[in-house]
Amino acid sequence: MIEIKGLKKKYGDGTYALKGIDLTLKEKATAVLGRNGAGKTTLLRILSTQLLPTGGHATIDGYDVVTDADKLRKRMVSVPQEAGPLGYLTPEEHIKIYLTARGMSFSNARQEAARALKSIGLWEFRDKTADELSGGMKRKIFVAMALASDADIIFLDEPTVGLDPISRIEVWSALRSLGSKMVLTTHYIEEAKELTKDIVMIDGGRAKAHGTVERLLRKSAGMVRVESTTSEEGEYKIGGIAISYVKASEAGRYAERGYIVKPVDLEDLFIMKGEDK
Ligand SMILES: Nc1ncnc2c1ncn2[C@@H]1O[C@H](COP(=O)(O)OP(=O)(O)O)[C@@H](O)[C@H]1O
Ligand SMILES: [Mg+2]
Repeated sequence: MIEIKGLKKKYGDGTYALKGIDLTLKEKATAVLGRNGAGKTTLLRILSTQLLPTGGHATIDGYDVVTDADKLRKRMVSVPQEAGPLGYLTPEEHIKIYLTARGMSFSNARQEAARALKSIGLWEFRDKTADELSGGMKRKIFVAMALASDADIIFLDEPTVGLDPISRIEVWSALRSLGSKMVLTTHYIEEAKELTKDIVMIDGGRAKAHGTVERLLRKSAGMVRVESTTSEEGEYKIGGIAISYVKASEAGRYAERGYIVKPVDLEDLFIMKGEDK
């Protein structure tokens, strides 16, 4: 279980990336969803003991991410957003080196590497150097390293950014088969839904909502989104589109006036001026 209380982070230049986050994460997998700059990476780096918070606390299974960092590091793996492999090593070499450095025997490391490479669709590329691989394949090397590890908890920052649709499906399926606890960040709503029912929405350094998609959408039950590219009338203006949220019973009236009517989804929660959770 991960408990986060009043977690704050102020960077050296004065940016407040986290403004007091309170969360209890009990599910096997949690997706932290938010647009660019929301604070996802900052939160993940603090939980994975790579960055010190400015205020508040976070514990993982009772261990504090600041004072017990050494103990936690042995149990966790983190795949950073900006991770890039070493160009002259192959995917298989990356994993074998990583696992043996973590203390695994060489023969186990070979077996685990093979299993991870196969599960993520990298097996046929195992002997190519990372330099010869596409951006998506490079990304997969890190996910495979995390998969192959025996860590209890895996942190993944935007695991499928830059991957083509097939690779994304492969990565998702590999992540779903993980036995360990997983916390990932994403700005893809679809990815969050694919991987877990436990979703945290963060915006402007605050947790806006936490729960299942159904729970998150409960507040907007009975509402629809109406949008128009020609009308000036709308509560929100995004890229030339006027968007409003209205009662479903009014949808017909808007449709007659040429508005497009859509069901409310998670992305709308970012658009709506939300009260904090
Ligand atoms: N090292 C840093 N120094 C100063 N500001 C930073 C630093 N890293 C991130 N920020 C700022 O903190 C905020 C949150 O960033 P980040 O956690 O990377 O968000 P996300 O991962 O959701 O895109 C942003 O405003 C970002 O510009
Ligand atoms: Mg980020």
